[in-house]
Amino acid sequence: MLEGKKIVLGVTGGIAAYKAIEVCRRLVDHGAHVVPILTNAAHNMVGPTTFTALASEPVKTSMFSDSDPIPHTRLGQTADAIVVCPATARIISDYRTGRSADLLSATLIATVAPVVVCPAMHTEMWEHPAVVENIQVLAGRGTIIVPPEEGRLAGGDIGKGRLAQPLAIVDAVLGLFGDDENKRANEAGLLRGRRVVVTAGGTREALDPVRYLGNRSTGRQGHALADVAREMGAEVTLITTSSLPSAGLNRIDVESAAEMHTAVVSASAGADMIIMNAAVADFRPVEVANDKIKKSGGIPEIKLEPTVDILAELGSTKKPEQLLIGFAAETNNLRENAIGKLHRKGADLLVANDVSAPGVGFASDTNAVTIFGADGSVSEIPLVDKRAVARSVLEAAAKLLP
Ligand code: CTP
Repeated sequence: MLEGKKIVLGVTGGIAAYKAIEVCRRLVDHGAHVVPILTNAAHNMVGPTTFTALASEPVKTSMFSDSDPIPHTRLGQTADAIVVCPATARIISDYRTGRSADLLSATLIATVAPVVVCPAMHTEMWEHPAVVENIQVLAGRGTIIVPPEEGRLAGGDIGKGRLAQPLAIVDAVLGLFGDDENKRANEAGLLRGRRVVVTAGGTREALDPVRYLGNRSTGRQGHALADVAREMGAEVTLITTSSLPSAGLNRIDVESAAEMHTAVVSASAGADMIIMNAAVADFRPVEVANDKIKKSGGIPEIKLEPTVDILAELGSTKKPEQLLIGFAAETNNLRENAIGKLHRKGADLLVANDVSAPGVGFASDTNAVTIFGADGSVSEIPLVDKRAVARSVLEAAAKLLP
């Protein structure tokens, strides 16, 4: 998907620099020609040898060590995209102000290619008004920001600022380049003028202010469906529990099954197609404790009650011209279970995957699915990346639209 694309991977001096190694490897796996630039500070965190071994060219660091007298202009002019991973507060500030302080900052201001910035820093720094403003300005100029996650930071602190998952970063890069088939579908405007609602991610059902019941869904397949539907010309509403980035969509962030239900009901009025890809909890705790449940109170007994089956509700209330697509993650009896769900929930298509198979389902960047139609049709999609699965599902669905 990135064949023939030259990606400059800028690595700055954050603890998360080691994760850029995986980003580098995955970009190369996708066919990209990766040119790594390490800042001086990055050398304190990771060794250039690893990047030189994994990337497509040796590491570059200085404006003056190269035989090329103007490496920054050459790199900036020939790059198809620049990814800064991790991006420290320093490089974000330099890029915002157009300060050319080293090879990476010079390359950033010598390019018109899309730039993906993946910040990683301590929570206090990430929340500092100067950094917040720099990020807003960059985003306003069209820079793609892959926001950091919450989690364990350097020095044992916990909070927002941890570098996004390498897969999310690679997804953001893939999102810059639709592949040829996508472009064809886009040209054909397969979904132009259509309104599509997509749900993504696993819901979280609160037990108390710090704990929840959840599942392993990451939202990657749902986000891929939303992105590809947008590329095919649709106006997309994405209702998601995931922190994966998105662009050009009407995005509604939710957490619980109840919040997702409310959002879907209001978004689906007037929708041509509703894709229930989210892993919605079937049960939620009857009571949510106001305060953290303490160990000293003994082993708690948690009573559960059913949530609304959103897909089944939509199936019983949908307008005849609306298309309803369900998903099913199965570990056994895939065909029987999937066909049962298709009819029981009143869907037009049901996309089933065997999540026990390698490379399939949660947290994987590939998927293999079978699409069952209410008309009895069955089509198998072999193991491919999730965007390709999204394209196949949307093409099958587009054929059924009135
Ligand atoms: N679904 C939903 N609301 C729920 C549960 C599931 O809309 N409360 C949707 C999912 O988004 C998916 C489909 O129903 O499109 C199938 O979900 P799945 O969890 O596989 O089916 P269940 O009916 O929950 O059956 P089981 O968990 O017993 O396999």
